[in-house]
Amino acid sequence: MNVKTIRWERDEDVLVLLDQTRLPGEVVYTKCRDIASVAEAIRRLRVRGAPAIGVAAAFGVVVGVQHSRAADFASFSREVDEAAELLAATRPTAVNLFWALDRMRRTVREHGSNTVEDIKRALLSEALAIQSEDEHTCRLIGEHGAALLRSGQTVLTHCNAGALATAGAGTALAVVYQAHNEGKRVHVYADETRPVLQGARLTSWELNRAGIGVTLICDSMAAQVMKEGRIDCVIVGADRVAANGDVANKIGTYGVAVLADAHDVPLYVAAPYSSIDLSIESGAGIPIEEREAAEVSQGPGGRTAPEEVEVYNPAFDVTPARYVSAIITERGVARPPYAESLAALSHHAWEPAVTG
Ligand code: MRU
Repeated sequence: MNVKTIRWERDEDVLVLLDQTRLPGEVVYTKCRDIASVAEAIRRLRVRGAPAIGVAAAFGVVVGVQHSRAADFASFSREVDEAAELLAATRPTAVNLFWALDRMRRTVREHGSNTVEDIKRALLSEALAIQSEDEHTCRLIGEHGAALLRSGQTVLTHCNAGALATAGAGTALAVVYQAHNEGKRVHVYADETRPVLQGARLTSWELNRAGIGVTLICDSMAAQVMKEGRIDCVIVGADRVAANGDVANKIGTYGVAVLADAHDVPLYVAAPYSSIDLSIESGAGIPIEEREAAEVSQGPGGRTAPEEVEVYNPAFDVTPARYVSAIITERGVARPPYAESLAALSHHAWEPAVTG
């Protein structure tokens, strides 16, 4: 059973998040009772990973307006827009955030003739639907991706695209979990993923907990590990995929992709269809979040660089589509040329899971 990253507590009407800044040392759940605490949790990476950010933001809208005293549709709808704008300003790169907020806004529009209390209920149902659809999506990504793995293979991954990054089993790691469930022997090398160590703190934690063999390496070791022939394929997640197949993911992914290409190792990107942004032609149009200097100049043990040193801290990079062997989605596996294969997936009939 995978770890539960996000939960809606019906008794108290609160959003409960596993605080990922405390892992691997402590498993602490934090309750978000107002929109400011949801926005803070997303910004501070208490909840992170593109699909999980989308799910948290959907519940964030619910938390933000559930005690609204708006008397009519126009003022309630304005409050929803304000809540969505506040959440949209938390992190710019993962498109799932904006996709989920759009769904919440659409829900309000579709219930224009209902009472405010009915719309509040509809918003909660929509957030729960986004959550349960994500669980289903992760399962399907796992199934499509596991077909690409053979028993005895070793996968390198970067950052955390596991259960901690979604409402379900993950994206890249769902592939590993599914292969494992099918009885295949799979081992994972996890890049530690500086600056904030999602690979070391989160990926190795959740794989270890699931009983999957994992070897932690520093990011700078990936080239040598590939040269030694230890890696059969790379599987990573995505924060946003452009229409041409360029992939924005955690900083360092691009470097891993170039290394994989140099060593003839296939690189697979596993992502829900909601991470694919056909409105953006190429990776050049994807906004890259820049985070604070302290993430680079300080490590968990304290300061690692002089206080006055200048720091540049882009949180994501863009891997050109030519380095991507396939993109694994819940709708199927897209292969190059992506301009055609990703567009074709948009017509793919896909039924979301029935939600309760
Ligand atoms: O800054 P983070 O931890 O939110 O970055 C996460 C990643 O880059 C993941 O690889 C991506 O969101 C996919 S998660 C299924």
